[in-house]
Amino acid sequence: MRQYYAMKTIILPSLLAADAGHLADEIKRAEDAGADALHIDIMDAAFVPNLSFGPHFVEMAKRTTSMPLNVHLMLNRPDLYIETFANAGADTIQIQVESSCIVSKTLKRIKALGVAPALVINPETSYKSVLPYLELIDECLQMTVYPGYGGQKFKSEPLSNVRALRDSATAFGKADFTIMVDGGIDRNTIVSCAQAGANAFVAGTALYSKTDMKSEIELFRKLISKTS
Ligand code: DX5
Ligand code: ZN
Repeated sequence: MRQYYAMKTIILPSLLAADAGHLADEIKRAEDAGADALHIDIMDAAFVPNLSFGPHFVEMAKRTTSMPLNVHLMLNRPDLYIETFANAGADTIQIQVESSCIVSKTLKRIKALGVAPALVINPETSYKSVLPYLELIDECLQMTVYPGYGGQKFKSEPLSNVRALRDSATAFGKADFTIMVDGGIDRNTIVSCAQAGANAFVAGTALYSKTDMKSEIELFRKLISKTS
């Protein structure tokens, strides 16, 4: 398992926005640009109204890069696919707290397989839904759009959850807790997320649309560093 929790700022390009005809090259482009980890969205056309990648894409990414693979399961029954994605090479498996599974059991199963477990909450889900599981996780992903599609407009309302999660994790004694944001993250929205307490930033469109991804990641880091 490749951990990245100890890192202060984590930038994760989202493969969903990559050129689908050249995925391996696009993964290398993210690594060469200085990304810390790769975010891979898995959708089932049920939990969200869209389909995306399956386990073979995670296997391909594992062969292609040494970056940690952050696998976001947007599935009604993520518990049925934990072994599949652990075997495919996921370093972190993120499950949605709203999904139809026994959350604590699923998080423990992920950990038992040597993969870092994480929870995801949708924009309208309260941060309180994460609190019963804080002892089982070192990472929470706050969606800043409704999951299912890239390129959507950033929602600022969920930032109150980010603030509350940061306070809760600190009170719980988790100083290195990773709070990730996902959806509409770009050079204009990243600062408010960092100010709210996020330290990990998924960006699809904002990074993959740039010919010079390295400069954009450097700009992200510069903007974030000004907030601390
Ligand atoms: C949306 C996905 C995101 C998506 C983000 O359901 O979870 O990871 O790729 O895309 P952008 O950064 O374009 O909003
Ligand atoms: Zn995602």
